[in-house]
Amino acid sequence: MIRLENLTKHFGSASNPFVAVDNVSLDLPSGEICVLLGPSGCGKTTTMKMINRLIQPTSGKVFIDGKDTSTVDLIELRRSIGYVVQQIGLFPNKTIEDNICIVPDLLGWDRRKSRVRAKELLDLVGLHPDLYLKRYPKELSGGQQQRVGVLRALAADPPVMLMDEPFGAIDPINRETIQEEFLKMQQEIRKTIIFVSHDLDEAVKMADKIAIFRGGKLEQYAAPDDLLARPANSFIEDFLGSDRALKRLRLVNVSAAMETGFVTVSPSSSVEEALREMRAMRSIAAFVLAPDGAPQFLLSDEMAAGRSGTVGDHMVPVKGSVRMGNDLRQAVSLMFAHDMPLLPCVDENGRMAGVVSYRSIVSNLGHGENG
Ligand SMILES: Nc1ncnc2c1ncn2[C@@H]1O[C@H](COP(=O)(O)OP(=O)(O)OP(=O)(O)O)[C@@H](O)[C@H]1O
Ligand SMILES: [Mg+2]
Repeated sequence: MIRLENLTKHFGSASNPFVAVDNVSLDLPSGEICVLLGPSGCGKTTTMKMINRLIQPTSGKVFIDGKDTSTVDLIELRRSIGYVVQQIGLFPNKTIEDNICIVPDLLGWDRRKSRVRAKELLDLVGLHPDLYLKRYPKELSGGQQQRVGVLRALAADPPVMLMDEPFGAIDPINRETIQEEFLKMQQEIRKTIIFVSHDLDEAVKMADKIAIFRGGKLEQYAAPDDLLARPANSFIEDFLGSDRALKRLRLVNVSAAMETGFVTVSPSSSVEEALREMRAMRSIAAFVLAPDGAPQFLLSDEMAAGRSGTVGDHMVPVKGSVRMGNDLRQAVSLMFAHDMPLLPCVDENGRMAGVVSYRSIVSNLGHGENG
């Protein structure tokens, strides 16, 4: 666990100090990712550098696993903390292999052991070791260099990682891929991570907790969903933007917005009867289930209006369904893609368990808003 206690940094003279970080306190449990978020110059990097004492705090303390870091030997402290710097910072005259092994080499690890580790790490992010170990940084793309920057920080297997805009130099499309890669890796390695970003979407995606800074002060510290649902003040509300409800989509499970009441009919039912049931349930479609319970066909009220005959005469195949464990963003994109205003939700066995509609989604996203 990492704890910051009244952490403060003044630059400049004592008589006329500039307060870069102002009395910041927060707790981060082991194995979680905290994203420091805020506009340029708000104190993110300074806060981060006080954790591995690249910057000496003016006052306040940092505890790692209960230990006051000002009592820990500086070299030992840095050894236990991986650090990804803001501008990648690979050494241009060293190969990728030697770049990754810088810290293990400094620590005096067995050379063979650290080279094996470099190979494993490259494999982990999909860079083929035979191709990349012996290359120099300038022979890699920007995204590949950033991957190597992250690997280098991981090489000595430190429990804590500080990452200063580690994916900042990557274009938006590749950035998504690297973020996903990194999250997958984190599932296995479970490091305690302080991560600086000024990209809200990145923060929402990566963070267990988000710390929003302004002018050196910690304005709010909360889980992403909490933050988006309940911004503490108008600065944060402005910072999150008017589409914060949309940003919540990826944080809310389909099961939270799912309505369990839905209409099922058999193909041999009359259209009239299907319409009656839809009206009774105030639903815009009826579903025909396969023998295994999967949603197979549907008849919408528009398709049924003014028609006679049976459901089987007019129904159409269900083009999409979403799993209850998926997030609402996936649900909405299926609803758009297949023009399905009522989307069936299925359980892990593929059986239909409910439906989501635009209305059920909107009313769920509205929960917890301040007004
Ligand atoms: N060594 C220094 N001496 C004086 N002022 C400094 C020093 N380092 C940083 N500052 C100031 O402290 C403030 C916080 O800087 P910091 O680097 O922590 O910002 P940041 O939030 O990381 O910004 P960015 O998003 O641009 O990286 C800034 O106003 C900066 O100019
Ligand atoms: Mg910075």
